[in-house]
Amino acid sequence: KRVALIFGGNSSEHDVSKRSAQNFYDAIEKTGKYEIFVFAIAQNGFFLDTESSKKILSLEDEQPIVDAFMKTVNKQDPLAAINALKSAGDFDIFFPVVHGNLGEDGTLQGLFRLLNKPYVGAPLRGHAVSFDKVLTKELLTVNNIRNTKYVVVNPETAKEWSWDKITSKLGNVVFVKAANQGSSVGISRVKNAEEYTIALADSFQYDYKVLIEEAVNGARELEVGVIGNDQPLVSEIGAHTVPDQGDGDGWYDYNNKFVDNSAVHFEIPAKLSVAVTQEVKQMALDAYKVLNLRGEARMDFLLDENGVPYLGEPNTLPGFTNMSLFKRLWDYSDIDNAKLVDMLIDFGFE
Ligand code: DAL
Ligand code: MG
Repeated sequence: KRVALIFGGNSSEHDVSKRSAQNFYDAIEKTGKYEIFVFAIAQNGFFLDTESSKKILSLEDEQPIVDAFMKTVNKQDPLAAINALKSAGDFDIFFPVVHGNLGEDGTLQGLFRLLNKPYVGAPLRGHAVSFDKVLTKELLTVNNIRNTKYVVVNPETAKEWSWDKITSKLGNVVFVKAANQGSSVGISRVKNAEEYTIALADSFQYDYKVLIEEAVNGARELEVGVIGNDQPLVSEIGAHTVPDQGDGDGWYDYNNKFVDNSAVHFEIPAKLSVAVTQEVKQMALDAYKVLNLRGEARMDFLLDENGVPYLGEPNTLPGFTNMSLFKRLWDYSDIDNAKLVDMLIDFGFE
């Protein structure tokens, strides 16, 4: 079978995607079962031909290759941005590894559907709903899957939510998040009125809808992988703690997720009671169903100081970098990377 691995994209997670794709590439190759073609999506949104894409996959500085490719493009062609998809001839399945905007929000999956090709991972609407933090919370809430207290505002209604009103509903520390962004972009942790004003303005740069969410006291962060379609499997649970930087500010942001995570302490499997372990796994599976997910996802949880788990967020194209828990959790669940990708591809064909 011929697999088209797609990575990059024009989101802030372009480089993370490249690192995830390198590992997926190696794992697919290790199965010995597939012919792999890669397509890079440049920061400008153009798909690159497979030759250029293959070079970029293992290269830091991709700009010269992108520049050379762009000289060959006829920008008058309405399909110019995706024309390079023809450079591999036909193939059997798409394997998208594009995190964030235009990759994890259902856009790419829409293209795959128009091209009438199977693909790995969640369907369009599973991605679209899970990428929207507000829709996600509303679906979890109506389905009784425990999540943190929240308020949704837009630029108009934000005026009704003074800092005092917010703290009386959500507590003294809150997170302010743009509804549609990945990798902790457009997110602030806020402790006073001044920070709150700045955080709202920042989040509104990214989205019309902003989520304001209670911060969980003494939170431990847990991650769990889910794969499969109608009968999904759940991985062991991983935990990580970020040391407090003095003012209660330790949280798992873009920097310690992907740039320098030397400070982050990982625990696999997470030391949890049997009851909490079961509850977290069940919540992950329930959320997977409610959110219309198939193929793969990673569910992130917060565990409060009393050991009560809250579903934090789904990630429908989980990172697969060397730092990513999703990659390591399956190893502990006796599904090595080659077996994992083989299963993901099979789920995509189902
Ligand atoms: N958005 C990144 C890739 C993750 O959640 O793993
Ligand atoms: Mg995420």
